[in-house]
Order: sequence, then C-alpha cells, then structure tokens
Amino acid sequence: MKIELNNNKIFFNNGKSNEEIHPFWLRERVDGEEFLDKGTQQRLFDPSTMNGEIIIKKAEIKNGFLEVNFNDGVNSKLDINKLESEFSNKDTVIKSIPKKKWDSTLKSVKNFDYKENFYESKEMHDLLVSFYEYGFVIIKNVPTENNYIVKFANSIGSVRRTNFGEHFNVKSKSSPNDLAYTTLHLGPHTDNPYRNPVPCIQILHCIENEVAGGYSTLVDGYTVSEKLKKEDPDSYKILTEVKVRFKFTDKNVMLEDWSELIHLDDQKNFKQVRFSPRLDYVPMLEKDKLDQYYKARKKLSDLYNSEKNRIEFKLKPKDLMMMDNHRVLHGRTKFDPEEGKRFLQGCYIDFDSTEGKLRHLKRKFKL
Ligand SMILES: [Fe+2]
Repeated sequence: MKIELNNNKIFFNNGKSNEEIHPFWLRERVDGEEFLDKGTQQRLFDPSTMNGEIIIKKAEIKNGFLEVNFNDGVNSKLDINKLESEFSNKDTVIKSIPKKKWDSTLKSVKNFDYKENFYESKEMHDLLVSFYEYGFVIIKNVPTENNYIVKFANSIGSVRRTNFGEHFNVKSKSSPNDLAYTTLHLGPHTDNPYRNPVPCIQILHCIENEVAGGYSTLVDGYTVSEKLKKEDPDSYKILTEVKVRFKFTDKNVMLEDWSELIHLDDQKNFKQVRFSPRLDYVPMLEKDKLDQYYKARKKLSDLYNSEKNRIEFKLKPKDLMMMDNHRVLHGRTKFDPEEGKRFLQGCYIDFDSTEGKLRHLKRKFKL
C-alpha cells in the first residue's frame, strides 16, 4: 500500500491497482485541534451534515504526512501510516489470531497463574491471545473470597447480567430451574442459546470440588463443524441453513431465539455454534427435509459426544476457566454429593470486553 499524488488527486497503490481516494474520505479524517478532541479521539464536527462536494486544492507529501488544503478552507496534516492502516478494512487484532483446532489429543495448552495487577500485564495479553486461539483458557490460583469472579470479570470488561443474576452458583439444589443445578451428567452444550444475543464468554470458577466425579468436559465446536463439513457436506449444509427455536421458561421469564446449529458469517465461514438438545425445537418442515435434518443433527451430536473430540479434566479450587460460548461446548460428568462439596461460580461477559482489553494491551505494550 502506498499513497501517491497526481495533479492534486490522491491515490492509493496496492501493488495491483491505483485507486483515487475520495476527497471527502480524507476531509472526514482531518485531525487538527478544532476538528478532533485529542483526549477521546472523537470528532468535534459532524461530517454527515456537510456538503459532500469537497475538492482538494493542494496536496503534498512531507516526512510521512499528507498535507492537504481543501476547498472549504480547512488545511490538515494527515499521518500516512494511520491512513494506510485503514485500507485493509480488517480487524488487525482479533481476526489476525488464527483459531487452533483441537480434539482429545490436545496436550499442551498453557495455563496461566493469577497475580495481583495481572489485568494490565503482558501476561494478560498472552492469556487473551491463547483464549482466542483455543476458545478457552484456564487460570490457576484465582482468589475465591467475596464472589471474586465478579471482580475478575469486571477487571477484563463488564459482567453480562442475566435472569440467573450477576453471577450464579453451580451446586445441586432442590427444585432446580436448570439441569446445571443437579448432580446429573451434562452432555456437551453451549449456554443460553435462547438469548438474543447469546452470552459470548462463560467464566466458571471452582470454589470447592471434593467429589470423585464432576469432571469438566470441553469440545471444540469449530473443529467438529469443520470435520463435518469435510466428511458430510450435505449434513453440514442443512445444519447451517435450518433455524431452530431455542427456549427457556421459568416462573418469571420466557426466553426464545432462533438460530442454525452451525451459524456462518457472510463469507460462509464459521461464526457460532449453538447446541443444547434439551431446549431446541425444530420447525415443521417437509417430511423428507426433516428426515435429512434429523440424520444430520444425529451426526453432529455423535461428533460432539465422541470421546475423540472431548477433553476431560478436573477443576481444582481456585481454578478459573474462561470459555468462548460461541465456539466451545462444555459439560460435566455426574457426581455423588455424598462424597463432599462441589461448588462452582459462573458468570458471563461479552466479546467487546475481551476484544477491547486485548487491543488496549497490544497498544500499551506496542505488540
Ligand atoms: Fe452450561
């Protein structure tokens, strides 16, 4: 990418073509004191109210700056590096972290250790990168006093409160409103598929775990759906097309949302999985199509439930796990409450929390 001048017109050359930059695009980016608040980096003028017929009267390139005089009397010096960074239109932080596929053979995920002040550390940056690579991360030695999980979540971003509260306590109880609050085996699932939007990240913090069972299980929905795409494209296709209804009901609320089990982005790439087979309702479709759908869903379920795709481990007190609820499915093995206490706390945060924190740390440490 290179900025070039020709006759008071400004071009960017990407090596293949030479495109003129719209003068108004540059006018919107003027950053003199009267146009941009230096503290907030927010505009002090509203370009949407301006006449779009802006012409460049004079332009020069000097020492990495583009000096432009516009026909409305405004002159500005624009940082060329900053302009060029906008040409790709891509998120250069989050999307540049490649997802690593994993299954039961996964051995070497780095655990992180909690330390005071680690929210602003380089280690927090590395932790978040690891989270985006694998879809989960485990942090050891996180304090457990006074619902510390809430402080943890709010030190990365903001807790996403739901009808289960700011945080929730996962222990077996009588008259539960969710199977999480029983001692039963929980198959792989994503949380809260019935919400709009679905909480992005679940944080689970182990406070006590004295039982022999109660292992945590994780499955990478990204690896599984890519596997299905390769092995059985027809099943993959129907699961990326048919929207099903997810719902949750208790005495205070009725939540409902529709989605495909494998949700793709505009470029048909993986975006999100939802899987919670006790809460999903497939719409009424032609019998043949439903036949195909049920076969496809069974295949997906078999893959999610296969030992080959699952990792299983025991969370110890003070272990805190962060999971991408749009990518990774979680579950647990059953346990016997007679053996002792099992107590986990959970809460949700959204991707803006982790993304904002990661961009900030990258800027801070010039990474
Ligand atoms: Fe869950």
